[in-house]
Amino acid sequence: MKIRVFDNRHDAGIYVAAVAESVIEAKVQPVLGLATGASPISFYDALVNLHRCGLDLSNVVTINLDEYIGLSIEHEQSYHCFMRQNLFDHTNLRSENTYLPNGMADDLAFACEQYDEVIRRHPIDLQILGIGVNGHIGFNEPDDLLLSKTHIVRLRQETVESNARFFEHIDDVPKEAITVGVQAILQADQIVLMAFGAQKADIIAKAVLGSVRTDVPASILQLHRHVTLVLDRESASKLPMAF
Ligand code: GLP
Repeated sequence: MKIRVFDNRHDAGIYVAAVAESVIEAKVQPVLGLATGASPISFYDALVNLHRCGLDLSNVVTINLDEYIGLSIEHEQSYHCFMRQNLFDHTNLRSENTYLPNGMADDLAFACEQYDEVIRRHPIDLQILGIGVNGHIGFNEPDDLLLSKTHIVRLRQETVESNARFFEHIDDVPKEAITVGVQAILQADQIVLMAFGAQKADIIAKAVLGSVRTDVPASILQLHRHVTLVLDRESASKLPMAF
């Protein structure tokens, strides 16, 4: 596992965008697995900037990790909306090349199956991840089991509380989501996990230094051979390395 510790999110985002550019330029139809939350925003800013500087994204396929169940794609806290605001609307990504789970599907189980089919057709070259304060990746929450396929998940109370910062009231936070499973994440060629701030220090230390356990979902990244953790000094502060 490679670890890079930056002074700030801005510099970290530029680094991740450079990683993405090298992946994009190496493939005819590159596939990026994308995440939401505050952590990847500096990456999206830098990627938009690279696009303005000439990086063509018209052949890039994007596959998002997750979406809330029950929020329309127009809802400002839906991940569809997040992706439009932070990336899609500012680049030449083609809408037919951008995939997010359908949290409004009548048949959610079928929507999950279809999403796995999308991932099967478009193996992920670079997976961007954030990490929840409880160690979740995508919305794979700490549990006795980690599910390999795309599935419906009931969000843990700590996730609802953490994501309440984006909503007017905690009761507005959806309690369920669709998330890709750990198979889609682990099958990506390369993974970059972004985490910033002191509130992520404990979980980063657990995920990196502890055993691989289903109650710390991000710890499974220890099993992947090409993972880079992109941190700031605060989130890296419990790792026993001298930076
Ligand atoms: C949400 C997303 C996760 C993300 C997490 C962390 O729960 N489903 O994919 O990693 O938030 O968010 P943040 O980066 O805002 O701390």
